[in-house]
Amino acid sequence: MKIKSAEFVMSNSEVAKCPKNPIPEYAFIGRSNVGKSSLINMLTDRKSLAKTSGRPGKTQLINHFIINDNWFLVDLPGYGYARVSKSSKKTFQKFITNYFEQRQQLVSAFVLVDIRHKPQPIDLEFMQYLGESGIPFSIIFTKADKLKPKAIERNVEDYCNILLETWEELPHYFITSSSKKIGQDEVLDFIEATNEE
Ligand code: GTP
Ligand code: MG
Repeated sequence: MKIKSAEFVMSNSEVAKCPKNPIPEYAFIGRSNVGKSSLINMLTDRKSLAKTSGRPGKTQLINHFIINDNWFLVDLPGYGYARVSKSSKKTFQKFITNYFEQRQQLVSAFVLVDIRHKPQPIDLEFMQYLGESGIPFSIIFTKADKLKPKAIERNVEDYCNILLETWEELPHYFITSSSKKIGQDEVLDFIEATNEE
């Protein structure tokens, strides 16, 4: 898919106030600082469409962007920031779970995980939560520029093995780097393919 246009629409903390236009929607979620906003800029070829920061907790609201005038891309706040990660679903903010449970036009979520880290309970729990809620999702490994190819391969394999302890099938996954522009076509082509279904 070629990005012809990418525009910010609105920010808010209530799913009821999200845009009414019933077009397909894709949401990016993951721990604070994992690189959600940077990935959105990389995917859309825009330097600062979504605001990024080295400090975790930059994105605080549900942010809608309209792409090519025919689908929404959504940047969400990170989970697991502040009163971090007792392995409890309560660390997921209510307005985020409301968003996932109530946003009818959501086609698919992307759960971002840092490729350098071992699977974290909070990420696995969030995937479990999406599965139980019947929300399709893919995994996006971020910051692949930080590792050598062999280490990438090893970490992805370890991640998949842990997932297979609880999941019968592996979700789609993508290996990306926003700083080196890796994975853009793969993610956009996946969106295009599911968008047409
Ligand atoms: P919150 O909004 O706070 O939840 O964070 P976020 O997930 O949106 O992360 P953000 O995109 O703001 O990036 C966090 C930090 O990671 C920034 O310092 C980015 O420059 C850095 N970063 C993001 N993507 C990459 C990447 O692909 N490679 C490298 N090396 N750094 C990255
Ligand atoms: Mg952000």
